[in-house]
Amino acid sequence: MLNRPLRIALTKGRLEKDTIELFEKIGYDCTAVREKGRKLILPVPDGNLEVVLAKANDVITYVEHGVCDCGVVGKDTVMEMQGKYFELVDLGFGRCRFALAVKKGFDFFSGYDVRTIASKYPGVSRSYFESIGMDVEIVKIEGSVELAPLLELSDGIVDIVETGTTLRENGLEVVRDIAPVSARFIVNTVSMKLRQSEIEELVKLIKANI
Ligand code: PRP
Repeated sequence: MLNRPLRIALTKGRLEKDTIELFEKIGYDCTAVREKGRKLILPVPDGNLEVVLAKANDVITYVEHGVCDCGVVGKDTVMEMQGKYFELVDLGFGRCRFALAVKKGFDFFSGYDVRTIASKYPGVSRSYFESIGMDVEIVKIEGSVELAPLLELSDGIVDIVETGTTLRENGLEVVRDIAPVSARFIVNTVSMKLRQSEIEELVKLIKANI
């Protein structure tokens, strides 16, 4: 583990641009990351780092297993996957929120029927409804969860809302805010001990540049 560069798993997509900009602001040459093509492990030579670009859930899996020392991932995934790693820095970008949304005008909280919730985040949904003492049925959906109430699969959705455009364009509205979300810097628990000085140095640079 100590012989290779410090390995960082970055979340592809939504957080990718802001994360690369942060690393460039620190002063790292991210050319290989920007021009990645199909290559999966990318060097950041001047920082003695290497970058792996992965889906959010996989970032957590790689960091938990220690095959990546650290990672950048949204708090939404952190809340859903939980797991054993340190969450060291709130990076401040990738801001959005978890919310409960329904078809415009639908009175979700009235009546005695057990409500159905569609979500990419069944864990977050379950703990939210447990926290308010409401019994619901949860259906896991992988993408465009806004479709579920439109197709009448569910009474509501628990999802991340950033600009609110997706909800608006599909006739849905937020009825409860659940939790704020932003990108987090996470670290494997063993790496934190074995590569402490490298990680502390990187965290210092990150904090100075966010
Ligand atoms: C997320 C989320 C909403 C949308 C909200 O999906 O699931 O669909 O973004 O953003 P808005 O409030 O700015 O409209 P994402 O774009 O991450 O794609 P995904 O469905 O593939 O997860």
